[in-house]
Amino acid sequence: MKNQAPVATLSQDQLKTLVGVAALAYVVPGEIIGVGTGSTVNKFIEALASMRDDIKGAVSSSLASTERLQALGIPVFDSNEVDELAVYIDGADEIDARGYMIKGGGAALTREKIVAAQSRRFVCIADESKLVPSLGRYPLPVEVIPMAARRISQQFAELGGQARVRMVGGQPLLTDNGQILLDVTGLDIVDPLAFETLVSQWPGVVTVGVFAHQKAQVCLLGTTSGVRTLAFDDGSLKT
Ligand code: 5RP
Repeated sequence: MKNQAPVATLSQDQLKTLVGVAALAYVVPGEIIGVGTGSTVNKFIEALASMRDDIKGAVSSSLASTERLQALGIPVFDSNEVDELAVYIDGADEIDARGYMIKGGGAALTREKIVAAQSRRFVCIADESKLVPSLGRYPLPVEVIPMAARRISQQFAELGGQARVRMVGGQPLLTDNGQILLDVTGLDIVDPLAFETLVSQWPGVVTVGVFAHQKAQVCLLGTTSGVRTLAFDDGSLKT
């Protein structure tokens, strides 16, 4: 029997570091950049310290990321102070082969969608467990106005989904915008664009965590054999 070379297995945390560092290549010097939220983005923010003096600053998608950026001395701008951002770098809970995503596991989906909409290019950073054939296995986060939670849950039930209010310490979790979240299981989102359009119109929905209209143009995927770059500029995957 031949000796086989040992396969280096990187932990999920190491894969996140790998893509966080790789994302520095997409930072445009002299610009204000969009920065997302989550454990993968935290790795990117750590790496961004090395480019602190090369950028004007950041627009952040959450209070948590704002604190981390400011702690590193990176100026954080209000999104209303900026017309357009060259790039937005953020993680995902699921991403498919077209660059469509589920986001909001870290409860920041509304601000994430706002900053993504303001950006010319969305660079998604994720470990390989996030790449899926179709969206919907991850419980879909939906930020809602509390008085509409029951009715919206019924509307999801009509689509075959089960909605639960996200709780923390026995209380509904409140987002940075003071609203609550539903996490919806049991959905198979075959047409993310149509699904996002439909749910966004339901009264009381603030933001649905399907990012199809604000999809990724690039995904840096952390794999045990290194960073795989997926490009979806024309809607199809190129590796
Ligand atoms: C936060 C998000 C995050 O991007 C998503 O939850 C992925 O997080 P992580 O990098 O921690 O896996 O959408 O609202």
